[in-house]
Amino acid sequence: SKSSKKGATLGQGGELHQQTVNTEETLTTQQGVPVADDQNSLRAGPRGPTLLEDQVMREKIFHFDHERIPERVVHARGYGAHGYFETYESLTDLTCADIFQRKGEKTPVFVRFSTVAGNKGSADLPRDVRGFAVKFYTKEGNWDLVGNNIPVFFIQDAIKFPDLVHAAKQEPDRGFPQAQTAHDNFWDFISLTPESMNMIMWTMSDRAIPRSFRFMEGFGVHTFRFVNGGGKSTFVKFHWKPKQGLQSVVWNEALKINGADPDFHRRDLWDAITMGDYPEWELGLQIFDETFAEKFDFDVLDATKIIPEEEIPVKVVGRLVLDRVVDNFFAETEQVAFCTQNIVPGIDHSDDPLLQGRNFSYLDTQLKRLGSPNFTHIPVNAPKCPMHHFQQDGHMAIHNPKGRANYEPNSWGKEGGPRENPAKGFVSYGASVNGPKTRVRSETFADHYSQARQFYISQTPIEQKHIGDALMFELSKVEREEIRERVVSHLLNIDDELAKRVARGLGLDKLPKPADAAKPTQKNLPA
Ligand code: HEM
Repeated sequence: SKSSKKGATLGQGGELHQQTVNTEETLTTQQGVPVADDQNSLRAGPRGPTLLEDQVMREKIFHFDHERIPERVVHARGYGAHGYFETYESLTDLTCADIFQRKGEKTPVFVRFSTVAGNKGSADLPRDVRGFAVKFYTKEGNWDLVGNNIPVFFIQDAIKFPDLVHAAKQEPDRGFPQAQTAHDNFWDFISLTPESMNMIMWTMSDRAIPRSFRFMEGFGVHTFRFVNGGGKSTFVKFHWKPKQGLQSVVWNEALKINGADPDFHRRDLWDAITMGDYPEWELGLQIFDETFAEKFDFDVLDATKIIPEEEIPVKVVGRLVLDRVVDNFFAETEQVAFCTQNIVPGIDHSDDPLLQGRNFSYLDTQLKRLGSPNFTHIPVNAPKCPMHHFQQDGHMAIHNPKGRANYEPNSWGKEGGPRENPAKGFVSYGASVNGPKTRVRSETFADHYSQARQFYISQTPIEQKHIGDALMFELSKVEREEIRERVVSHLLNIDDELAKRVARGLGLDKLPKPADAAKPTQKNLPA
Protein backbone atom coordinates (compact mmCIF):
# COMPACT_ATOMS: atom_id res chain seq x y z
CA SER A 1 0.00 0.00 0.00
CA LYS A 2 1.11 3.58 -0.54
CA SER A 3 -0.50 4.63 2.67
CA SER A 4 1.96 5.07 5.57
CA LYS A 5 -0.68 5.65 8.23
CA LYS A 6 -2.07 3.00 10.47
CA GLY A 7 -5.80 2.79 10.10
CA ALA A 8 -8.63 1.80 7.86
CA THR A 9 -8.34 2.35 4.13
CA LEU A 10 -10.14 1.20 1.01
CA GLY A 11 -8.53 -1.68 -0.91
CA GLN A 12 -8.61 -2.07 -4.67
CA GLY A 13 -12.02 -3.59 -4.61
CA GLY A 14 -13.33 -0.84 -2.36
CA GLU A 15 -13.42 -3.14 0.74
CA LEU A 16 -12.29 -1.96 4.21
CA HIS A 17 -8.71 -3.09 5.16
CA GLN A 18 -6.57 -2.65 8.30
CA GLN A 19 -3.05 -1.46 7.41
CA THR A 20 0.21 -0.89 9.24
CA VAL A 21 2.97 1.72 9.08
CA ASN A 22 5.55 0.98 6.35
CA THR A 23 9.19 0.48 7.34
CA GLU A 24 12.33 -0.09 5.29
CA GLU A 25 12.15 -3.86 5.34
CA THR A 26 9.47 -5.95 3.73
CA LEU A 27 7.68 -8.34 6.06
CA THR A 28 8.07 -11.94 4.90
CA THR A 29 6.85 -15.37 5.90
CA GLN A 30 9.28 -17.88 7.42
CA GLN A 31 9.85 -19.07 3.86
CA GLY A 32 10.99 -15.58 2.87
CA VAL A 33 7.91 -14.80 0.79
CA PRO A 34 6.98 -11.08 0.94
CA VAL A 35 3.71 -10.45 2.73
CA ALA A 36 1.29 -7.99 1.14
CA ASP A 37 -1.34 -7.91 3.88
CA ASP A 38 -0.65 -8.85 7.51
CA GLN A 39 -3.93 -7.49 8.90
CA ASN A 40 -6.63 -9.39 7.06
CA SER A 41 -7.04 -13.10 6.51
CA LEU A 42 -8.10 -14.50 3.17
CA ARG A 43 -11.85 -15.07 2.98
CA ALA A 44 -14.56 -15.88 0.54
CA GLY A 45 -16.07 -12.42 0.15
CA PRO A 46 -15.61 -9.59 2.70
CA ARG A 47 -18.12 -11.21 5.12
CA GLY A 48 -17.45 -14.83 4.13
CA PRO A 49 -15.66 -17.70 5.93
CA THR A 50 -11.85 -17.77 6.21
CA LEU A 51 -10.16 -19.92 3.58
CA LEU A 52 -7.99 -22.86 4.69
CA GLU A 53 -5.82 -21.98 1.73
CA ASP A 54 -4.46 -18.87 3.52
CA GLN A 55 -0.87 -20.06 4.04
CA VAL A 56 0.20 -16.69 5.43
CA MET A 57 -2.30 -16.77 8.27
CA ARG A 58 -1.83 -20.48 8.95
CA GLU A 59 1.94 -20.18 9.19
CA LYS A 60 1.69 -17.18 11.51
CA ILE A 61 -0.78 -18.83 13.88
CA PHE A 62 1.00 -22.19 13.76
CA HIS A 63 4.19 -20.52 14.92
CA PHE A 64 2.45 -18.56 17.63
CA ASP A 65 0.77 -21.74 18.92
CA HIS A 66 4.19 -23.21 19.62
CA GLU A 67 5.84 -20.19 21.26
CA ARG A 68 5.90 -21.52 24.79
CA ILE A 69 8.48 -23.99 26.03
CA PRO A 70 8.48 -25.54 29.51
CA GLU A 71 9.89 -23.19 32.08
CA ARG A 72 12.90 -24.37 34.07
CA VAL A 73 11.82 -26.88 36.72
CA VAL A 74 13.67 -24.65 39.22
CA HIS A 75 15.19 -21.18 38.79
CA ALA A 76 12.41 -20.42 36.28
CA ARG A 77 12.53 -16.68 36.84
CA GLY A 78 15.81 -15.17 35.83
CA TYR A 79 17.59 -12.38 34.09
CA GLY A 80 20.74 -12.48 32.00
CA ALA A 81 23.45 -10.25 30.55
CA HIS A 82 26.68 -10.50 28.59
CA GLY A 83 30.11 -9.38 29.67
CA TYR A 84 33.65 -10.54 30.10
CA PHE A 85 35.99 -12.07 32.63
CA GLU A 86 39.46 -10.59 33.00
CA THR A 87 42.27 -12.69 34.45
CA TYR A 88 44.42 -10.72 36.94
CA GLU A 89 47.37 -13.13 37.03
CA SER A 90 48.52 -16.38 35.51
CA LEU A 91 47.56 -19.41 37.61
CA THR A 92 49.75 -21.90 35.70
CA ASP A 93 50.98 -23.44 38.98
CA LEU A 94 47.44 -24.33 39.99
CA THR A 95 45.59 -25.11 36.79
CA CYS A 96 46.12 -25.57 33.09
CA ALA A 97 42.66 -24.10 32.39
CA ASP A 98 43.27 -21.85 29.41
CA ILE A 99 41.22 -19.01 30.91
CA PHE A 100 43.71 -18.70 33.81
CA GLN A 101 46.97 -18.83 31.83
CA ARG A 102 47.53 -15.21 30.76
CA LYS A 103 47.34 -12.03 32.85
CA GLY A 104 44.95 -9.56 31.26
CA GLU A 105 43.16 -12.23 29.17
CA LYS A 106 39.52 -11.32 28.53
CA THR A 107 37.02 -14.14 28.11
CA PRO A 108 33.41 -13.49 27.02
CA VAL A 109 30.73 -14.60 29.50
CA PHE A 110 26.97 -14.85 29.78
CA VAL A 111 25.47 -14.62 33.27
CA ARG A 112 21.95 -15.48 34.43
CA PHE A 113 20.69 -14.52 37.87
CA SER A 114 17.52 -16.14 39.15
CA THR A 115 15.21 -16.92 42.03
CA VAL A 116 14.73 -20.62 42.75
CA ALA A 117 11.21 -21.53 43.75
CA GLY A 118 8.97 -19.06 41.92
CA ASN A 119 7.47 -19.58 38.52
CA LYS A 120 8.58 -17.61 35.49
CA GLY A 121 6.08 -14.84 36.13
CA SER A 122 6.68 -14.49 39.87
CA ALA A 123 8.03 -11.41 41.66
CA ASP A 124 11.71 -10.56 42.06
CA LEU A 125 11.83 -10.21 45.84
CA PRO A 126 10.56 -13.35 47.55
CA ARG A 127 12.62 -14.63 50.43
CA ASP A 128 14.62 -17.12 48.39
CA VAL A 129 18.06 -18.18 47.27
CA ARG A 130 19.33 -16.46 44.10
CA GLY A 131 21.04 -18.32 41.28
CA PHE A 132 24.31 -16.91 39.94
CA ALA A 133 25.17 -18.90 36.82
CA VAL A 134 28.15 -17.97 34.66
CA LYS A 135 29.03 -19.40 31.25
CA PHE A 136 32.65 -18.68 30.29
CA TYR A 137 33.25 -19.06 26.55
CA THR A 138 36.91 -20.06 26.92
CA LYS A 139 39.31 -20.90 24.09
CA GLU A 140 39.17 -24.55 25.16
CA GLY A 141 35.40 -24.83 25.42
CA ASN A 142 32.59 -23.62 27.63
CA TRP A 143 33.01 -23.69 31.39
CA ASP A 144 29.82 -23.21 33.40
CA LEU A 145 30.06 -22.17 37.03
CA VAL A 146 26.44 -22.71 38.13
CA GLY A 147 26.30 -21.14 41.57
CA ASN A 148 24.05 -19.44 44.08
CA ASN A 149 24.29 -16.33 46.24
CA ILE A 150 24.57 -18.51 49.35
CA PRO A 151 27.66 -20.68 49.87
CA VAL A 152 25.89 -23.75 51.28
CA PHE A 153 22.90 -25.86 50.25
CA PHE A 154 19.84 -27.48 51.85
CA ILE A 155 20.80 -31.09 51.21
CA GLN A 156 23.91 -33.23 51.02
CA ASP A 157 22.78 -35.73 48.41
CA ALA A 158 21.19 -35.09 45.00
CA ILE A 159 18.66 -37.89 45.56
CA LYS A 160 16.83 -35.50 47.92
CA PHE A 161 16.57 -32.67 45.36
CA PRO A 162 13.15 -33.61 43.90
CA ASP A 163 11.74 -33.77 47.46
CA LEU A 164 13.25 -30.43 48.43
CA VAL A 165 11.86 -28.74 45.33
CA HIS A 166 8.43 -30.37 45.60
CA ALA A 167 8.22 -29.21 49.20
CA ALA A 168 9.32 -25.66 48.39
CA LYS A 169 7.07 -25.04 45.39
CA GLN A 170 3.30 -24.58 45.57
CA GLU A 171 1.42 -27.42 47.26
CA PRO A 172 0.07 -29.86 44.67
CA ASP A 173 -3.60 -29.87 45.67
CA ARG A 174 -4.19 -26.11 46.04
CA GLY A 175 -1.55 -24.69 43.72
CA PHE A 176 -0.32 -22.14 46.26
CA PRO A 177 1.59 -20.52 47.89
CA GLN A 178 3.82 -19.56 45.00
CA ALA A 179 7.49 -18.80 45.56
CA GLN A 180 7.12 -18.67 49.33
CA THR A 181 8.81 -20.59 52.07
CA ALA A 182 5.79 -19.75 54.23
CA HIS A 183 3.93 -23.03 54.14
CA ASP A 184 3.48 -26.39 55.82
CA ASN A 185 5.07 -28.57 53.14
CA PHE A 186 8.30 -26.58 53.07
CA TRP A 187 8.76 -26.50 56.84
CA ASP A 188 7.61 -30.09 57.24
CA PHE A 189 10.40 -31.23 54.93
CA ILE A 190 12.94 -28.89 56.52
CA SER A 191 12.04 -29.95 60.05
CA LEU A 192 12.66 -33.58 59.04
CA THR A 193 15.94 -32.71 57.32
CA PRO A 194 18.41 -31.50 59.93
CA GLU A 195 21.17 -31.22 57.32
CA SER A 196 19.28 -28.15 56.00
CA MET A 197 19.78 -26.15 59.22
CA ASN A 198 22.88 -24.24 58.14
CA MET A 199 21.19 -23.26 54.87
CA ILE A 200 18.04 -22.25 56.79
CA MET A 201 20.07 -19.77 58.85
CA TRP A 202 21.44 -18.29 55.62
CA THR A 203 18.05 -18.22 53.84
CA MET A 204 16.34 -16.58 56.81
CA SER A 205 19.08 -13.94 56.82
CA ASP A 206 19.08 -10.71 54.82
CA ARG A 207 21.02 -12.52 52.06
CA ALA A 208 17.74 -13.97 50.80
CA ILE A 209 16.30 -10.53 50.01
CA PRO A 210 19.11 -8.85 48.06
CA ARG A 211 18.75 -5.20 47.10
CA SER A 212 19.52 -6.18 43.53
CA PHE A 213 21.53 -8.75 41.62
CA ARG A 214 24.35 -6.21 41.57
CA PHE A 215 24.75 -6.35 45.35
CA MET A 216 24.98 -10.11 45.79
CA GLU A 217 27.87 -12.46 46.34
CA GLY A 218 28.05 -15.68 44.35
CA PHE A 219 29.43 -19.11 45.22
CA GLY A 220 30.23 -22.27 43.29
CA VAL A 221 29.19 -24.02 46.56
CA HIS A 222 30.88 -27.38 45.91
CA THR A 223 34.53 -28.22 46.24
CA PHE A 224 35.98 -28.57 42.73
CA ARG A 225 39.43 -29.55 41.55
CA PHE A 226 42.10 -27.61 39.74
CA VAL A 227 44.62 -29.69 37.80
CA ASN A 228 47.88 -28.16 36.52
CA GLY A 229 49.93 -29.03 33.43
CA GLY A 230 52.00 -31.51 35.43
CA GLY A 231 48.86 -33.40 36.49
CA LYS A 232 48.97 -32.11 40.08
CA SER A 233 45.59 -31.39 41.64
CA THR A 234 44.38 -29.05 44.39
CA PHE A 235 40.87 -28.50 45.70
CA VAL A 236 39.18 -25.18 44.97
CA LYS A 237 36.05 -23.30 46.00
CA PHE A 238 34.83 -20.39 43.87
CA HIS A 239 33.51 -17.07 45.20
CA TRP A 240 32.15 -13.94 43.49
CA LYS A 241 32.56 -10.69 45.45
CA PRO A 242 30.47 -7.75 44.21
CA LYS A 243 32.50 -4.55 43.77
CA GLN A 244 29.28 -2.64 44.47
CA GLY A 245 29.25 -4.14 47.98
CA LEU A 246 26.81 -6.53 49.62
CA GLN A 247 23.38 -5.01 50.28
CA SER A 248 19.90 -6.24 51.07
CA VAL A 249 16.46 -4.75 51.56
CA VAL A 250 14.41 -5.30 54.72
CA TRP A 251 11.33 -7.52 54.63
CA ASN A 252 8.85 -4.63 54.63
CA GLU A 253 10.59 -3.12 51.64
CA ALA A 254 10.61 -6.47 49.86
CA LEU A 255 6.87 -6.83 50.31
CA LYS A 256 6.20 -3.32 49.00
CA ILE A 257 8.56 -3.70 46.06
CA ASN A 258 6.94 -7.00 45.05
CA GLY A 259 3.60 -5.21 44.88
CA ALA A 260 4.75 -1.97 43.29
CA ASP A 261 7.32 -3.34 40.83
CA PRO A 262 7.65 -7.12 40.66
CA ASP A 263 10.37 -6.63 37.98
CA PHE A 264 12.53 -4.58 40.33
CA HIS A 265 15.68 -6.67 39.97
CA ARG A 266 15.32 -7.02 36.20
CA ARG A 267 14.84 -3.31 35.76
CA ASP A 268 17.80 -2.56 38.03
CA LEU A 269 20.20 -4.68 35.96
CA TRP A 270 18.85 -3.45 32.64
CA ASP A 271 19.06 0.20 33.73
CA ALA A 272 22.55 -0.09 35.19
CA ILE A 273 23.98 -1.71 32.07
CA THR A 274 22.18 0.48 29.54
CA MET A 275 23.32 3.59 31.46
CA GLY A 276 26.94 2.42 31.35
CA ASP A 277 27.19 1.68 35.09
CA TYR A 278 28.55 -1.82 34.52
CA PRO A 279 28.35 -4.10 37.55
CA GLU A 280 31.51 -5.97 38.51
CA TRP A 281 32.43 -8.93 40.66
CA GLU A 282 35.84 -10.27 41.58
CA LEU A 283 36.47 -13.99 41.37
CA GLY A 284 38.00 -15.38 44.54
CA LEU A 285 39.43 -18.83 45.15
CA GLN A 286 39.87 -20.87 48.27
CA ILE A 287 42.65 -23.30 47.46
CA PHE A 288 43.48 -26.28 49.68
CA ASP A 289 44.91 -29.77 49.47
CA GLU A 290 44.14 -33.26 50.73
CA THR A 291 46.06 -32.60 53.95
CA PHE A 292 43.81 -29.67 54.83
CA ALA A 293 40.73 -31.63 53.73
CA GLU A 294 41.63 -34.46 56.07
CA LYS A 295 42.16 -32.31 59.13
CA PHE A 296 39.17 -30.02 58.52
CA ASP A 297 36.38 -30.49 61.10
CA PHE A 298 33.82 -31.04 58.35
CA ASP A 299 33.86 -32.89 55.07
CA VAL A 300 34.92 -30.76 52.11
CA LEU A 301 32.55 -32.88 49.99
CA ASP A 302 29.55 -31.80 52.09
CA ALA A 303 27.75 -28.94 50.32
CA THR A 304 25.96 -27.91 53.53
CA LYS A 305 29.27 -26.60 54.91
CA ILE A 306 31.57 -23.69 54.17
CA ILE A 307 35.30 -23.49 54.61
CA PRO A 308 35.74 -20.44 56.85
CA GLU A 309 37.68 -17.65 55.15
CA GLU A 310 39.79 -17.32 58.32
CA GLU A 311 41.07 -20.85 57.70
CA ILE A 312 41.56 -20.56 53.95
CA PRO A 313 41.64 -16.91 52.82
CA VAL A 314 40.01 -16.02 49.52
CA LYS A 315 42.56 -15.24 46.81
CA VAL A 316 41.23 -12.79 44.20
CA VAL A 317 42.21 -13.81 40.65
CA GLY A 318 40.07 -11.85 38.22
CA ARG A 319 37.01 -9.77 37.60
CA LEU A 320 33.68 -10.20 35.87
CA VAL A 321 32.12 -7.18 34.15
CA LEU A 322 28.58 -7.17 32.75
CA ASP A 323 28.44 -4.60 29.97
CA ARG A 324 25.82 -5.70 27.45
CA VAL A 325 22.13 -6.45 27.77
CA VAL A 326 20.59 -9.14 25.59
CA ASP A 327 19.11 -8.42 22.16
CA ASN A 328 16.29 -10.80 22.89
CA PHE A 329 15.15 -12.17 26.23
CA PHE A 330 13.84 -15.49 24.93
CA ALA A 331 16.68 -16.27 22.53
CA GLU A 332 19.35 -15.66 25.13
CA THR A 333 18.14 -15.57 28.75
CA GLU A 334 15.44 -18.18 28.32
CA GLN A 335 17.31 -20.57 26.05
CA VAL A 336 20.66 -20.44 27.80
CA ALA A 337 21.53 -23.83 29.25
CA PHE A 338 24.02 -23.92 32.11
CA CYS A 339 25.31 -27.29 33.17
CA THR A 340 27.70 -28.30 35.93
CA GLN A 341 29.14 -30.99 33.66
CA ASN A 342 30.52 -28.28 31.36
CA ILE A 343 34.09 -28.13 32.59
CA VAL A 344 37.33 -27.62 30.68
CA PRO A 345 40.86 -29.07 30.89
CA GLY A 346 42.38 -27.86 34.18
CA ILE A 347 39.09 -27.98 36.13
CA ASP A 348 37.49 -31.16 37.45
CA HIS A 349 34.70 -32.43 39.66
CA SER A 350 35.02 -33.64 43.22
CA ASP A 351 33.12 -36.57 44.74
CA ASP A 352 30.53 -34.28 46.36
CA PRO A 353 27.32 -36.36 46.01
CA LEU A 354 25.25 -33.26 45.30
CA LEU A 355 27.53 -32.21 42.46
CA GLN A 356 27.57 -35.72 41.03
CA GLY A 357 23.76 -35.71 40.82
CA ARG A 358 23.67 -32.23 39.32
CA ASN A 359 25.97 -33.42 36.56
CA PHE A 360 23.20 -35.77 35.44
CA SER A 361 20.25 -33.46 36.06
CA TYR A 362 21.00 -30.34 34.00
CA LEU A 363 21.63 -31.99 30.64
CA ASP A 364 18.66 -34.25 31.13
CA THR A 365 16.23 -31.44 31.95
CA GLN A 366 17.56 -29.24 29.14
CA LEU A 367 16.83 -31.89 26.53
CA LYS A 368 13.21 -31.71 27.67
CA ARG A 369 13.14 -27.94 28.05
CA LEU A 370 14.82 -27.06 24.76
CA GLY A 371 13.52 -30.06 22.86
CA SER A 372 16.56 -31.32 20.99
CA PRO A 373 20.09 -32.59 21.67
CA ASN A 374 21.19 -29.80 19.32
CA PHE A 375 20.53 -27.00 21.82
CA THR A 376 24.27 -26.30 21.77
CA HIS A 377 23.70 -24.87 18.27
CA ILE A 378 21.72 -21.97 19.76
CA PRO A 379 24.18 -19.05 19.70
CA VAL A 380 24.05 -18.33 23.46
CA ASN A 381 24.98 -21.95 24.17
CA ALA A 382 27.50 -22.47 21.37
CA PRO A 383 31.20 -22.35 22.20
CA LYS A 384 33.11 -19.43 20.69
CA CYS A 385 36.16 -21.62 19.98
CA PRO A 386 36.56 -24.05 17.06
CA MET A 387 34.39 -27.13 17.45
CA HIS A 388 34.65 -30.39 15.48
CA HIS A 389 32.92 -33.66 16.25
CA PHE A 390 30.93 -36.43 14.62
CA GLN A 391 27.65 -35.84 16.41
CA GLN A 392 24.90 -35.47 13.85
CA ASP A 393 21.20 -35.31 13.07
CA GLY A 394 18.39 -35.06 15.61
CA HIS A 395 15.79 -32.31 15.67
CA MET A 396 17.05 -28.95 14.40
CA ALA A 397 20.50 -30.17 13.27
CA ILE A 398 22.12 -26.95 12.14
CA HIS A 399 25.83 -27.78 12.08
CA ASN A 400 26.09 -31.36 10.87
CA PRO A 401 29.70 -32.37 10.15
CA LYS A 402 30.85 -31.88 6.57
CA GLY A 403 32.33 -34.60 4.38
CA ARG A 404 32.10 -38.36 4.09
CA ALA A 405 33.71 -39.52 7.34
CA ASN A 406 31.41 -39.34 10.35
CA TYR A 407 33.13 -41.94 12.52
CA GLU A 408 36.46 -42.55 14.17
CA PRO A 409 38.95 -44.17 13.73
CA ASN A 410 38.92 -43.81 9.95
CA SER A 411 41.54 -44.04 7.22
CA TRP A 412 40.47 -41.05 5.15
CA GLY A 413 43.62 -39.12 5.99
CA LYS A 414 43.20 -35.36 5.81
CA GLU A 415 39.57 -35.73 4.77
CA GLY A 416 38.92 -37.94 7.76
CA GLY A 417 37.79 -35.12 10.04
CA PRO A 418 38.87 -34.27 13.60
CA ARG A 419 41.15 -36.55 15.64
CA GLU A 420 41.49 -37.03 19.38
CA ASN A 421 44.43 -35.23 20.95
CA PRO A 422 45.88 -36.82 24.11
CA ALA A 423 48.27 -33.89 24.63
CA LYS A 424 45.58 -31.22 24.65
CA GLY A 425 42.33 -32.99 25.42
CA PHE A 426 40.39 -33.22 28.68
CA VAL A 427 41.71 -35.93 30.98
CA SER A 428 39.88 -36.72 34.20
CA TYR A 429 42.02 -36.39 37.32
CA GLY A 430 43.03 -39.90 38.34
CA ALA A 431 41.81 -39.77 41.93
CA SER A 432 41.79 -43.20 43.55
CA VAL A 433 38.35 -44.58 44.25
CA ASN A 434 37.79 -47.57 46.43
CA GLY A 435 35.09 -49.01 48.69
CA PRO A 436 32.02 -51.20 48.79
CA LYS A 437 28.87 -50.10 46.98
CA THR A 438 26.71 -48.61 49.71
CA ARG A 439 24.05 -46.04 50.44
CA VAL A 440 25.52 -45.28 53.85
CA ARG A 441 26.42 -41.64 54.27
CA SER A 442 29.82 -40.89 55.77
CA GLU A 443 29.94 -39.97 59.45
CA THR A 444 31.94 -36.90 58.38
CA PHE A 445 28.66 -35.46 57.05
CA ALA A 446 26.84 -35.85 60.38
CA ASP A 447 27.23 -32.53 62.24
CA HIS A 448 24.33 -30.33 61.13
CA TYR A 449 24.32 -27.66 63.81
CA SER A 450 27.85 -26.32 64.47
CA GLN A 451 28.15 -24.25 61.30
CA ALA A 452 24.53 -23.06 61.62
CA ARG A 453 25.47 -21.76 65.09
CA GLN A 454 28.71 -20.22 63.83
CA PHE A 455 26.82 -18.40 61.10
CA TYR A 456 24.17 -17.12 63.51
CA ILE A 457 26.63 -15.81 66.08
CA SER A 458 28.74 -14.17 63.36
CA GLN A 459 25.81 -11.87 62.54
CA THR A 460 25.38 -8.38 64.02
CA PRO A 461 22.51 -7.92 66.51
CA ILE A 462 20.22 -6.35 63.88
CA GLU A 463 21.00 -9.17 61.45
CA GLN A 464 20.24 -11.71 64.17
CA LYS A 465 16.94 -9.94 64.80
CA HIS A 466 16.10 -10.21 61.12
CA ILE A 467 16.75 -13.97 61.20
CA GLY A 468 14.41 -14.37 64.17
CA ASP A 469 11.77 -12.13 62.53
CA ALA A 470 12.00 -14.12 59.30
CA LEU A 471 11.57 -17.43 61.09
CA MET A 472 8.54 -16.09 62.97
CA PHE A 473 6.96 -14.64 59.83
CA GLU A 474 7.47 -17.77 57.76
CA LEU A 475 6.51 -20.25 60.48
CA SER A 476 3.44 -18.23 61.46
CA LYS A 477 1.97 -19.30 58.10
CA VAL A 478 2.41 -22.97 59.02
CA GLU A 479 -0.88 -24.49 60.18
CA ARG A 480 0.32 -27.66 61.93
CA GLU A 481 1.76 -26.90 65.37
CA GLU A 482 3.94 -30.06 65.43
CA ILE A 483 5.87 -28.73 62.42
CA ARG A 484 6.56 -25.42 64.15
CA GLU A 485 7.64 -27.30 67.26
CA ARG A 486 9.96 -29.51 65.28
CA VAL A 487 11.66 -26.47 63.74
CA VAL A 488 12.09 -24.94 67.20
CA SER A 489 13.57 -28.24 68.41
CA HIS A 490 16.34 -27.76 65.83
CA LEU A 491 16.81 -24.09 66.70
CA LEU A 492 17.48 -25.20 70.27
CA ASN A 493 20.59 -26.94 68.95
CA ILE A 494 21.67 -23.73 67.22
CA ASP A 495 20.99 -20.88 69.64
CA ASP A 496 18.93 -20.95 72.81
CA GLU A 497 17.87 -17.30 72.71
CA LEU A 498 16.84 -17.51 69.07
CA ALA A 499 14.82 -20.68 69.71
CA LYS A 500 13.04 -19.13 72.69
CA ARG A 501 12.27 -15.93 70.84
CA VAL A 502 10.78 -17.81 67.88
CA ALA A 503 8.81 -20.13 70.20
CA ARG A 504 7.37 -17.10 72.04
CA GLY A 505 6.58 -15.35 68.78
CA LEU A 506 4.73 -18.42 67.55
CA GLY A 507 2.79 -18.71 70.81
CA LEU A 508 4.07 -22.21 71.62
CA ASP A 509 2.88 -23.19 75.13
CA LYS A 510 6.09 -24.91 76.10
CA LEU A 511 9.51 -25.43 74.57
CA PRO A 512 9.98 -28.77 72.79
CA LYS A 513 12.98 -30.96 73.57
CA PRO A 514 16.06 -30.20 71.43
CA ALA A 515 16.22 -32.41 68.33
CA ASP A 516 18.39 -35.47 68.65
CA ALA A 517 21.62 -34.22 67.14
CA ALA A 518 23.12 -37.69 66.99
CA LYS A 519 20.55 -39.19 64.61
CA PRO A 520 21.98 -40.02 61.20
CA THR A 521 20.80 -37.60 58.55
CA GLN A 522 18.85 -39.88 56.30
CA LYS A 523 16.90 -41.57 59.07
CA ASN A 524 15.67 -38.54 60.97
CA LEU A 525 11.97 -39.35 60.91
CA PRO A 526 9.98 -38.87 64.10
CA ALA A 527 9.59 -42.10 66.10
C1 HEM B 1 18.91 -24.71 37.62
C2 HEM B 1 22.14 -23.68 41.01
C3 HEM B 1 21.46 -27.98 43.09
C4 HEM B 1 18.89 -29.24 39.27
C5 HEM B 1 19.82 -24.06 38.38
C6 HEM B 1 20.25 -22.72 38.15
C7 HEM B 1 21.17 -22.43 39.08
C8 HEM B 1 21.32 -23.58 39.92
C9 HEM B 1 21.92 -21.14 39.23
C10 HEM B 1 19.74 -21.77 37.10
C11 HEM B 1 20.49 -21.92 35.83
C12 HEM B 1 20.02 -20.91 34.84
O1 HEM B 1 20.08 -19.70 35.14
O2 HEM B 1 19.62 -21.32 33.73
C13 HEM B 1 22.22 -24.76 41.86
C14 HEM B 1 23.11 -24.85 42.99
C15 HEM B 1 22.89 -26.05 43.59
C16 HEM B 1 21.88 -26.72 42.82
C17 HEM B 1 24.11 -23.82 43.39
C18 HEM B 1 23.53 -26.68 44.79
C19 HEM B 1 24.69 -26.38 45.23
C20 HEM B 1 20.79 -28.71 42.19
C21 HEM B 1 20.58 -30.12 42.30
C22 HEM B 1 19.86 -30.49 41.21
C23 HEM B 1 19.62 -29.29 40.43
C24 HEM B 1 21.09 -31.01 43.44
C25 HEM B 1 19.37 -31.82 40.81
C26 HEM B 1 19.81 -32.98 41.28
C27 HEM B 1 18.62 -28.10 38.55
C28 HEM B 1 17.78 -28.08 37.38
C29 HEM B 1 17.79 -26.76 36.91
C30 HEM B 1 18.63 -26.02 37.79
C31 HEM B 1 17.05 -29.26 36.79
C32 HEM B 1 17.06 -26.21 35.69
C33 HEM B 1 18.05 -26.15 34.57
C34 HEM B 1 17.45 -25.71 33.26
O3 HEM B 1 16.27 -26.00 32.99
O4 HEM B 1 18.18 -25.10 32.47
N1 HEM B 1 20.49 -24.57 39.48
N2 HEM B 1 21.49 -25.90 41.78
N3 HEM B 1 20.21 -28.24 41.04
N4 HEM B 1 19.11 -26.85 38.79
FE1 HEM B 1 20.36 -26.39 40.23
